[in-house]
Amino acid sequence: MHQVLFYSMGGNTRKLADAIARVLGVKAAEIKTASIDPAADIIFLGSGCYGSNPGEEMTKFIEKNDFSSRKVALFGTSGGNAGLEVDLMAAALKHKGATILGSYHCKGKAFLLFSTGHPNQEDLDSARKFAREMSMLG
Ligand SMILES: Cc1cc2nc3c(=O)[nH]c(=O)nc-3n(C[C@H](O)[C@H](O)[C@H](O)COP(=O)(O)O)c2cc1C
Repeated sequence: MHQVLFYSMGGNTRKLADAIARVLGVKAAEIKTASIDPAADIIFLGSGCYGSNPGEEMTKFIEKNDFSSRKVALFGTSGGNAGLEVDLMAAALKHKGATILGSYHCKGKAFLLFSTGHPNQEDLDSARKFAREMSMLG
């Protein structure tokens, strides 16, 4: 059993979360009201990128939870697709004792002009592939 938790201000990261959760046969949950399921094999955490950072609620969630001996897979979306959100989440999680199995990030539509149309079908297919690969490491 796996867990998929996300922060998504505009809905882009939610699309990845739903695609990943579907592959895993679970339901994605918003980070705000979520807690870690002690029985989860892998915790998938996803966030958009806001001012070069993951969502504040995601950062807080990582800060307040114990991830020692937890396996975590990360996903994110951003206008520029630099992957800063997943890199920063990975760094914070390592401090909290997590093992990072892998990460996936893609573009996410920002404002009116940037990265329009993302995440698209190809992005979602890649996210599903990522979910299958990660679940084999669980
Ligand atoms: C307030 C705000 C700040 C953002 N800052 C960045 C940024 O620093 N770098 C970047 O690449 N994209 C930035 N973006 C674009 C978002 O990361 C992108 O649209 C992402 O897909 C948002 O995810 P969401 O729809 O799940 O909230 C920003 C978007 C917003 C709304």
